[in-house]
Amino acid sequence: MRGLNGKVMAVTGAAGGIGEAISLRLQEEGATVYTLDYKTAAVGRPLTIDVTDRTTVDDALNRILAGEGRVDGVVAAAGVVENDVAAEDMSLETWDRILDVNLRGVFITCQVFGNQMLQQGHGSIVNISSMSGNHVVNVPQKQCAYNASKAGVTALTKSLASEWAGRGVRVNALAPGYVATPLLKEKKHQFAQWLAATPQERMAEPAEIAAAAAFLLSDEAAYFCGSELLLDGGYSLR
Ligand SMILES: NC(=O)c1ccc[n+]([C@@H]2O[C@H](COP(=O)([O-])OP(=O)(O)OC[C@H]3O[C@@H](n4cnc5c(N)ncnc54)[C@H](O)[C@@H]3O)[C@@H](O)[C@H]2O)c1
Repeated sequence: MRGLNGKVMAVTGAAGGIGEAISLRLQEEGATVYTLDYKTAAVGRPLTIDVTDRTTVDDALNRILAGEGRVDGVVAAAGVVENDVAAEDMSLETWDRILDVNLRGVFITCQVFGNQMLQQGHGSIVNISSMSGNHVVNVPQKQCAYNASKAGVTALTKSLASEWAGRGVRVNALAPGYVATPLLKEKKHQFAQWLAATPQERMAEPAEIAAAAAFLLSDEAAYFCGSELLLDGGYSLR
């Protein structure tokens, strides 16, 4: 894909299914990839962060700048989901934890890396939202905090894209449907129901999400600004 070879990229959540696949794809495209997570990523150049703790994200950026002098792209893929909690029973601790990682964490990532990109005058940011943000409400599992956090990621993506477009920084989002990753490990008993509701009758492979992320980061997507690409095997059609 045009414009990724030789670029410096950072991916949060890079020890997980989608983040790792994106990191691998960007490496294959010739990018230098820093893999940020609170677990140690198996690929790229791992750095430890907690996306809810701004100082750790600042430190990671500083480590990247010390090595490379710039950062061309970042993917915000770190995320968590609650395990089937009815809205009327949800504790505020659970609500806060999900919003903290999925929305505040994406904001921190975008702000820290975005400031550097604004100084450079160029950069591309891809946030991983979900079909659960603005397109569907998943059934049968109940996950209102997750869904609200992902709708927030979409609104944040559009807001940042609007504010930063004139200064060389593009911000876009991917909204995946079901992807076969460890995030869903507590929900295996629901897989058959999900597949029955998905026209393609399968989940996405993480590599399929990675291909879309690589595209949005690349120069081929230069006119994408505040877009959210939906990849859901047709789930939202029904
Ligand atoms: N798997 C799916 O079906 C699916 C669908 C739509 C969207 N998504 C989104 O894609 C993203 C990646 O999900 P995944 O399926 O690869 O999940 P995953 O659980 O495999 O990976 C998530 C990674 O995020 C990391 N992480 C969590 N909290 C963190 C924190 N505070 N600081 C740093 N790292 C942290 C975890 O250590 C893990 O490595 C998430 O934002 C998720 O909401 C996933």
